[in-house]
Amino acid sequence: MKRIFSGIQPTGEIHLGNYVGAIRNWVYLQDEYDCVFSVVDYHAITIEYPVEEMAKRTLETGLILLACGLSPEKSKIFVQSHVPEHTELAWIFNTVTPIGEVERMTQFKDKAKQHRANINMGLMGYPVLQSADILLYKAGYVPVGEDQVQHIELSREVARKFNARFGDVFPEPQEILSMAPRILGVDGQAKMSKSLGNFIGVLEEEAGIWEKLRTAVTDVNRVHRTDPGDPNICNIYTIHRAFSDNSMLIEIDKGCTSAGIGCIDCKKMLFENLKKELTPIREKARELAANTDYVKDVLHQGAGACRKIADVTMEEVRRVLGLYRT
Ligand code: TYM
Repeated sequence: MKRIFSGIQPTGEIHLGNYVGAIRNWVYLQDEYDCVFSVVDYHAITIEYPVEEMAKRTLETGLILLACGLSPEKSKIFVQSHVPEHTELAWIFNTVTPIGEVERMTQFKDKAKQHRANINMGLMGYPVLQSADILLYKAGYVPVGEDQVQHIELSREVARKFNARFGDVFPEPQEILSMAPRILGVDGQAKMSKSLGNFIGVLEEEAGIWEKLRTAVTDVNRVHRTDPGDPNICNIYTIHRAFSDNSMLIEIDKGCTSAGIGCIDCKKMLFENLKKELTPIREKARELAANTDYVKDVLHQGAGACRKIADVTMEEVRRVLGLYRT
């Protein structure tokens, strides 16, 4: 069976972008692929973070993945730092990754701007660790949102460079994009993200979700209810596309471009669909929160299974590197 790897940072609060850009796709894909999903805590420490919250956020992120529908019967779900081979392979990959390649990563440039006081080696090596995550399991496919495509390109480059020097060990992974690879934030300025504070959380209470939707920016040219709008430049429409069926999208498209419906009508329709999809997730999360031992056990079992695969890959890697073994 073809193998998939993907990861998510333990921000503790998963937003709609993470959900429709990645996680919901993972849930579909776990029926067809051999799947490995990780809560990538070693990636999260590349920026300043509240140390006392990390463990809690990591567990919470694992819990949300299960609430969204990942199943330990179908997928391996684990915490990155529980499989130390990720960082071991990342070090080895550092030696075949050209500095120029990581310097030109847009995410590195953005983060370097956001965290001027702490532009550390880890921030720069972030996509090298990401390559190690994927290639440790020799995964051929990586389901991610659009913002990660450049990093997957780099993982192909890393695999090529490694293979050219040491022999044919790694596949060149391909990204798999979901039907909503880039969800915009409620500010309408940029992609939805935790750090920009323009997100709607998957586990947020309904009143909070509505308040964010109600006040969300739409097509800025649509000042009055009577102005026709353009769904193609409306961030709310990017979310609609992920949660509403075709007939509703056609209705909105017509209503918006003819000023037949107002933005609030459109948002109400979206709100109904969000409730339909998110309520069962929130309920499942509540159940799991009352039984975190189960979540811990899933992550523990997942790490055990992953360590076995990692061990085999690393033995091969150390051998082709020509390292001294006893
Ligand atoms: P992270 O934690 O930032 O995001 C997790 C996933 O959510 C997707 N995503 C979005 N998709 C659509 N619209 C948005 N607004 C949006 N925001 C986030 C991301 O593309 C991602 O798929 N570097 C990765 C984590 C990682 C990883 C890996 C992924 C570490 N190692 C190996 C794949 C393979 C990241 O920061 O994801």
